[in-house]
Amino acid sequence: MQATQLHPLWHDYPTLQPELQQVMQLMDANINISDTAITSAILEMIHSGGKLLRPAYCLLFSQFKATDRQRMIALAAALETLHTATLIHDDILDDAKLRRHQASIQEQFGKDVAVYAGDYLFVVVFKILAQYSSSFKSIQLNSENMEKILIGEVQQKDRHYRIDITMTQYQEQIQGKTAELFALSCFLGAYESGQSAPFAARARKIGLAIGMAFQILDDILDYQAVSHEIGKPILEDVAEGVYTSPLIFALQTDYRTELLPLLRQQGQINATDRHRIQTIVIAAGGVDRAKQLATSYTNQALHLLNKLPNNATRTTLIRLTQQLLDRHN
Ligand code: IPE
Ligand code: IPE
Ligand code: MG
Ligand code: MG
Repeated sequence: MQATQLHPLWHDYPTLQPELQQVMQLMDANINISDTAITSAILEMIHSGGKLLRPAYCLLFSQFKATDRQRMIALAAALETLHTATLIHDDILDDAKLRRHQASIQEQFGKDVAVYAGDYLFVVVFKILAQYSSSFKSIQLNSENMEKILIGEVQQKDRHYRIDITMTQYQEQIQGKTAELFALSCFLGAYESGQSAPFAARARKIGLAIGMAFQILDDILDYQAVSHEIGKPILEDVAEGVYTSPLIFALQTDYRTELLPLLRQQGQINATDRHRIQTIVIAAGGVDRAKQLATSYTNQALHLLNKLPNNATRTTLIRLTQQLLDRHN
């Protein structure tokens, strides 16, 4: 078994660390296919510094009630496995060479092998759920969630290079591809620990808002960062035809006339023009407006979090959610 190094984010949350370690161990224990090359590539990816946010939210939401921790850890591991599968498939769709500062699985093994690696992880998700969930309900919710992620990704693909994409369409896409999994994570933590239906519904709503803020911020990072900081080249999204909130906001301003000829190059766009787009979008206030939108989703989540029972878990949830708004990777 590989040594587990948790993301530095968790240094400040010592009480969560042991369970997150166990999440990783459970994933390791469940990933085992005879082709050792692909098994070790998946394991390497799992140990390459993912933030483990989805399992963390699930575990935190399960802490409001005394419950069988082992079962909660297993469900959290299923969520992270599901996340990992979507990342492997996302890298195929996005033709991404890097993931978490290292060669993506599709880059290392080709798209065909990567499809199977992702599919295999979906199987692992159900293997874990079949063993640990309290009812068919979790399995049903997980499959519905996979469907939503898939629809979000497909919608995004359908709208490639569409300069007329609206903020509503963009938000619908990111809800499907990202926010729904955060919603499921919070919901499952609450629901599987035996909370009432209204509590679990509130958890779901909180997760949805956190997920929206999270993806908007991720999209902003692309416009702010230098590639070595985020572990992937900048404005890959734009080159692939994925137009996100900073650009959509900028396209609503007079800077549109400067942006359109650059965007018209589509996949052919070079590094200089990518930087030019980055500069224009920032000057147009696109990044600021996107940041405001992310802040409003975070505030929505914080508002709902403040209605939960006042205890150490709530404090941790609030702190973590605020911290995500300031993240740089
Ligand atoms: C990446 O998610 C994909 C998005 C939804 C933006 P994370 O940023 O949580 O990925 P890891 O697991 O920490 O690498
Ligand atoms: C995240 O999508 C992957 C999913 C939510 C399925 P993105 O393409 O926006 O994120 P990165 O930049 O690859 O992490
Ligand atoms: Mg991607
Ligand atoms: Mg993508």
